[in-house]
Amino acid sequence: MGWVVTIDGPAASGKSTVSRELAKRLGWQWVSTGAFYRGLAYVALQKKIAFDDVPQLVELSRSSEWSVEMSDSKTKVLFQRQDVSDLISREDVGNYASKISHYPDVRKALLEGQRACSLGHAGLVAEGRDCGTIVFPQAQAKIYLTADQSHRAARRAAEEGQAQESILAAQKTRDKQDSTRKVAPLQVPESAYVLDTTHLSLPDVIQKVEHFVREKIPV
Ligand code: DC
Repeated sequence: MGWVVTIDGPAASGKSTVSRELAKRLGWQWVSTGAFYRGLAYVALQKKIAFDDVPQLVELSRSSEWSVEMSDSKTKVLFQRQDVSDLISREDVGNYASKISHYPDVRKALLEGQRACSLGHAGLVAEGRDCGTIVFPQAQAKIYLTADQSHRAARRAAEEGQAQESILAAQKTRDKQDSTRKVAPLQVPESAYVLDTTHLSLPDVIQKVEHFVREKIPV
């Protein structure tokens, strides 16, 4: 296994944009671990599997009908050989993903694929909710990004061209689900660099995160 940097945080805290840019600057691989949950959620929705049908979800997680692939600009999800990466970003898929992520057996089933992303590469930047605590507890640098809830909703609304109120309501539900679940809840990893991005520009966040990583890792 090469170097691993983890970036965790709540929905729309900027982790995807920041971690992707960091990976680019370091010349490393990048993965959004949420794509595993979203991918499984998308496929389960297609197959009309109930979010609490854990045995079926676990079986589906092992199916060769879908896969997750790393690439520079997005973590791709392929279903029946079609690229469904854009479809998994829908809020209904995110909400279903958040629901199924409560089940320990579902989390366990997706863990191996997430960990495999670090194999065979000089370095990996992994983002999600439990990357620094569960997926890569041995990561050499851990970051936790956060921002005010209304600020995060405004960001996501601008990105998706939707009303801020509906995004905010969905985000509140998802934050609560993600941080109160019994298994691997969203939490700040020990020794993580915690950065509140509410009043920072994106270039400033990236610069601070890169500086932290370069102090920890000789790259
Ligand atoms: O980061 P995201 O919005 O793409 O993640 C979608 C859902 O997947 C999130 O609400 C909870 C779950 N998830 C998780 O439980 N653990 C992760 N490491 C990443 C995502």
